[in-house]
Amino acid sequence: MSNNNNAEILLKVDDLMMHFPIYRGVFQRQVGAVRAVDGVSFDVFRGETLGLVGESGCGKSTTGRAILQLYKPTAGNIHFEGADLIKLRGEELRRMRRKMQMIFQDPYASLNPRMTVEQIVGEPLVVHSVATGKEIQDRVKHLLEIVGLNPSFASRYPHEFSGGQRQRIGVARALALQPSFIICDEPISALDVSIQAQVVNLLEELQEQFNLTYLFIAHDLSMVRHISKRVAVMYLGVIVELTTRDELYLNPLHP
Ligand SMILES: Nc1ncnc2c1ncn2[C@@H]1O[C@H](COP(=O)(O)OP(=O)(O)O)[C@@H](O)[C@H]1O
Ligand SMILES: [Mg+2]
Repeated sequence: MSNNNNAEILLKVDDLMMHFPIYRGVFQRQVGAVRAVDGVSFDVFRGETLGLVGESGCGKSTTGRAILQLYKPTAGNIHFEGADLIKLRGEELRRMRRKMQMIFQDPYASLNPRMTVEQIVGEPLVVHSVATGKEIQDRVKHLLEIVGLNPSFASRYPHEFSGGQRQRIGVARALALQPSFIICDEPISALDVSIQAQVVNLLEELQEQFNLTYLFIAHDLSMVRHISKRVAVMYLGVIVELTTRDELYLNPLHP
């Protein structure tokens, strides 16, 4: 979808800011703020993969979390499927949250080691009360198949899996509520180079199969150049460039 003239905007981020207060001294007074995200704007079109790249600490994950309303943004507007996310509350926000999911960087840290795969993948179904009992078991098994894992592994624990398999568990969990939008936050950075391509291929297949839209976060271009046609480059809390990957290679303005 490189021609965006008639493409539908799924997500619109306007001048998003996320500042974290810094407290100092015995009275824990606020002495300043980390301007993690400092006025970021971009659109994501339905069905595309927008790359978001930048060095570690430039605010990529914070941007993702603020979009998903895991943080209350300091300022800015976020529209998703036409709804004003910042104004949504209660049940409306819960319903919108189902459609937006995140896949995390570290498949070791992001999966609860005390939960079985079935509990991990089925948890969103329980939390959002969209399935119960046997139905959850069946859906978990189906989700495991979709991500290329043996469904009979459902009763196992995360430590019994390799890094690549764990990331597949994370993907299955993200898919549980049939989202339309997934933020992939450096989903392959922590994996062996030999299995990175498998996970990227899986994400691309799933995108095709379920008409998913991705915001794909990475710390360097080599990861996103295969998967996204448009790339936003972030530096110290702002987007310094938003362009097609082809232009980015021909004419790189930032390191
Ligand atoms: N919860 C938080 N509280 C305070 N500072 C934070 C918090 N989360 C992130 N930061 C700071 O915001 C900046 C951006 O972090 P982050 O979004 O994680 O960057 P990236 O994902 O690009 O590596 C960093 O300076 C980081 O230390
Ligand atoms: Mg990050």
